[in-house]
Amino acid sequence: MAATLAATDDALMSTPSSPSRRDFLATTSRFAAASALVGPAFAGVHVGGRERIRVALVGCGGRGGGAATNALAVPGEHVEIVAAADVFAGKPAAVVEALQEQFGARVDVPKDRQFVGFDAYRVAMDCLRPGDVVVLTTPPAFRWVHFAYAIEKGLNVFMEKPVSVDGPSSKRMLALNEKAKAKGLKVGVGLMSRHNHGMQELKRRVDDGELGEILVMRGYRMHGPAAFFRSLKKPDGISEVMYQIQRFHSFLWASGGNFSDFNIHIIDHLCWMKGAFPKWAQGVGGRHYREGKEGLYVDQNFDSYGVEYTFDDGTKLFFDGRCIEGCDTNYASYAHGTKGVAVVSANGDCGLPSRIYRGQRMDPANMQWESNVPKPDQDPYQNEWNVLIAAIREDRPHNEVDAGVMTSLVTAMGRAAAHTGQEITLQQMLDGGQEFAPGVDTLTMDGPAPVLAGPDGRYPTPMPGQKGLREY
Ligand SMILES: NC(=O)c1ccc[n+]([C@@H]2O[C@H](COP(=O)([O-])OP(=O)(O)OC[C@H]3O[C@@H](n4cnc5c(N)ncnc54)[C@H](O)[C@@H]3O)[C@@H](O)[C@H]2O)c1
Repeated sequence: MAATLAATDDALMSTPSSPSRRDFLATTSRFAAASALVGPAFAGVHVGGRERIRVALVGCGGRGGGAATNALAVPGEHVEIVAAADVFAGKPAAVVEALQEQFGARVDVPKDRQFVGFDAYRVAMDCLRPGDVVVLTTPPAFRWVHFAYAIEKGLNVFMEKPVSVDGPSSKRMLALNEKAKAKGLKVGVGLMSRHNHGMQELKRRVDDGELGEILVMRGYRMHGPAAFFRSLKKPDGISEVMYQIQRFHSFLWASGGNFSDFNIHIIDHLCWMKGAFPKWAQGVGGRHYREGKEGLYVDQNFDSYGVEYTFDDGTKLFFDGRCIEGCDTNYASYAHGTKGVAVVSANGDCGLPSRIYRGQRMDPANMQWESNVPKPDQDPYQNEWNVLIAAIREDRPHNEVDAGVMTSLVTAMGRAAAHTGQEITLQQMLDGGQEFAPGVDTLTMDGPAPVLAGPDGRYPTPMPGQKGLREY
């Protein structure tokens, strides 16, 4: 594993290339071969003389619907959604209906290709041919389980971030990805900053030395409570495990908590700008408010974090995260070099425009460069799909998993440092990190849940200084 860490910085920090706007009318021989391997019956394989790419959706929530929309909107392409899987009844039908309204017959998912349950991902992927695409947009705890089956089936993959939540699941993903690479599978990871064309231009300028040497980077995600950041006691009418999956940001095993789920994009693009991953972290954090108007919050999250990451050359990355209403909102990122300072994300996870200023003051008079991205290229969620589908059509190498795992692990390292109150190294995370949900591939709807509430309904929270290197 040490070799993997050593190999990371150069290999994983290149700028992803945009697809050429070439005419895709010629069917690749790989696809022609794949069409002979059709599983379940479908009407006509070719449309307009060109192979359709079939897509199955695993995880039919907000991002699943968004990713499917991006897949269907790749310019000049013919993509179809043919199967949908989720653990909650009603979710596949809801996403299929919404997509059909926009894309009509290209969303060809009749009731008998809408699957529900913990094994639903398998039957959904069984509807695809090798070379088709599966979209993995469940909470990240299930990523390695679903990725393993996709590899077995020879499928190309789009998977959302984070791709792992702890050391052991990161190690497993890196090992699985060796198999994916050996099979030549194309795998996109939803760290979409890397497909933001303004940031790509900034990265080229940073690499060309316009900032000088980067010494310090700063990232902030501070806003009110969002998504399932906090949770009340489990109500009646839903099993323990399903409650935790439904509100996955509240549970460390399911998502890495709000620290991993919310902050990963900014940590990712700052590491990309630096061209390296940090080697250790220290951090602080706590939970100021455990009760609100709604009642007692029983989830596992802290509501504020401050993490200091250190790179091998001593460079620092400072990250502040906060989910408290009534405080200032600050959601942006910066890189300070010996010649100037860059606004990496102006607003949000990867908001345009990026900028470079001479010196360290961000005065308009000092602005040296500002990104200017044409409208059709401004959506990084669409760009990442355009690149993935082009790589599939052209049979070009495209695999973002190793970088996605490293970013997920670096994010988890900062979280673990804050949760334990200990300095944590990347190697420690990989080699000795706590595994949050060892049996995640065997969960059942009414079976035991990976974490249990105490008699007062509260789930175990991190207690810095009290539990060694365990986060709870
Ligand atoms: N790149 C981004 O900007 C971005 C934005 C939002 C979400 N995400 C990521 O996308 C993922 C999903 O987030 P979301 O906001 O769509 O959540 P969501 O709750 O809206 O959707 C997740 C869906 O997965 C289903 N699911 C859970 N476990 C499953 C399993 N084992 N098998 C099949 N289905 C299962 C849930 O029932 C739910 O319908 C997360 O990893 C999140 O971090 C990324």
